[in-house]
Amino acid sequence: MANKLRRIALAVGAVVLVGGIGYTGLVQYGLHKRYPQTVRIEEGAGLKDQIARGEYIARLSDCTACHTKDGGQPFAGGYKLETPFGAILSSNITSDKETGIGGWTQEQFDRAVRHGVGSYGNLYAAMPYNAYAKLTDQDLTDLWAYIRTIPAVSNKVVENQLPFPFNQRWILAGWNLLFFKDQVFQENTQVSPEVNRGAYLVEGAGHCASCHTAKNLLGGDSSAYLQGGTLQGWFAPDLTPNPHTGLGHWSREDIVNYLRAGTNSKTASSGPMTEAIENSTQYMSESDLHAIAQYLHSLPASQSTIPAAIDSQQNAMLVGKKIYESQCNACHLSDGSGVRNMIPSLAGNAQVNSADASSLLNVVLNGSQGPFTHANPTAAGMPAFAWKLSDSNIADVMTYIRNRWGNAAQHVSSEQVEKARQSTHASEWLGADKN
Ligand code: HEC
Ligand code: HEC
Ligand code: HEC
Repeated sequence: MANKLRRIALAVGAVVLVGGIGYTGLVQYGLHKRYPQTVRIEEGAGLKDQIARGEYIARLSDCTACHTKDGGQPFAGGYKLETPFGAILSSNITSDKETGIGGWTQEQFDRAVRHGVGSYGNLYAAMPYNAYAKLTDQDLTDLWAYIRTIPAVSNKVVENQLPFPFNQRWILAGWNLLFFKDQVFQENTQVSPEVNRGAYLVEGAGHCASCHTAKNLLGGDSSAYLQGGTLQGWFAPDLTPNPHTGLGHWSREDIVNYLRAGTNSKTASSGPMTEAIENSTQYMSESDLHAIAQYLHSLPASQSTIPAAIDSQQNAMLVGKKIYESQCNACHLSDGSGVRNMIPSLAGNAQVNSADASSLLNVVLNGSQGPFTHANPTAAGMPAFAWKLSDSNIADVMTYIRNRWGNAAQHVSSEQVEKARQSTHASEWLGADKN
């Protein structure tokens, strides 16, 4: 018996040892893999055009969003990304030799941006290298031509402040094995060049899936591609042509206008999408915006079952109606239709019909300044109601707008409102009984 146990222990030990050696080999292979560059930085007259093309790729990819801290120098890093595993700070990618990437070669830049290996080893996927992996050799080189012209800013960023074991970068090689497809964009010969261009922009530079695709427990993309995802107190809705919770009723023009101006005849953006529009999509060319719209329309619609609308005689609906009529009517109108290009229509609104009410709660509690873009220079705002309405009143008005005018979605509870109040650091209800 003792012999048998010893043999089992030895076998397990051997498996762990061989597995450990194999894994170490995998990590080392990933860190030292070479990426020979086929496209080069241009010399002479062509360089100016190349830098301009690179600047456009940087816009499409929204590098500024994460690499510029609020009030900080452009691309000098230090922006904090909250993830379920802890906060991650973005790197300084200016041409400073000490604290930025000034001494880097094109191959090093490629290794970080398309393959996820940076100064300290494997990068966290908070840097969307899993999307940028799709960039063509030409686009990557153009991007590098631009990034290396960014003036040096000395700013030392804390490299890693995650708790153990998440601060161990070698673990990320395993994550890559599970979730990272290290492959340049492959054209689909079955669809038009325009749809291919849209797919390239959405899957690659635009990294839309990093917010609009739900994540699994390990932070990898779930298989419900672009069918909605939750992030930092917001919900990024379904972008497939689902008629209830997705873009089923949006025309191509609606999508183009939204990405260019932040508003369209149906809605206005808020939160992280407003930032993506202000920093990135408003600068996209007309043809690129149309390509994205074509591609989103070509996706298979997600298959969610529409819940039955909650009965208008239920208590939450009756109270919700009263609150709506006294607080919301003036702007969103009694038929929920809003004001075109200014105040969102709540009727038939995909976000309002989504199972996840995070964005709705966020906007109603904290208010929201509408998108400020070239095409929409005078944004309307939504006032905050956190101080004015109790958790139960907010829950009821949410339930009401989600089940009126043809809408149908889950009931919102006071507990959900209370949680959202805490997680979004909303102010307290001033009528609260402090005893
Ligand atoms: C969604 C946020 C986000 C976006 C968008 C983003 N980055 Fe990053 N990037 C990060 C974070 C966070 C890190 C640090 C990750 C880490 O420490 O593992 C990083 C790291 C890097 C690094 C590695 C630096 C080093 O010294 O190791 C480079 C290079 C880089 N990013 C370039 C870019 C470029 C170029 C773009 C646009 C094409 C871009 N990033 C867009 C979040 C982002
Ligand atoms: C940083 C996260 C983030 C990124 C990146 C992002 N989105 Fe969004 N998006 C959101 C959030 C959050 C909302 C909800 C905003 C709201 O309710 O006003 C949203 C809303 C939208 C909507 C409106 C949907 C509706 O029914 O109201 C469209 C269309 C959209 N995004 C398209 C895109 C496309 C295309 C890309 C890539 C080019 C993209 N988004 C990238 C977070 C993101
Ligand atoms: C002063 C006018 C005004 C009032 C009053 C108002 N809203 Fe809004 N609401 C807006 C504007 C403008 C936006 C768009 C904000 C943005 O783009 O960020 C908005 C956005 C919203 C959204 C987000 C829609 C989406 O597609 O993401 C919801 C939900 C909402 N309001 C519900 C309400 C409710 C419920 C009330 C009453 C408790 C209310 N609003 C009162 C002007 C108003």
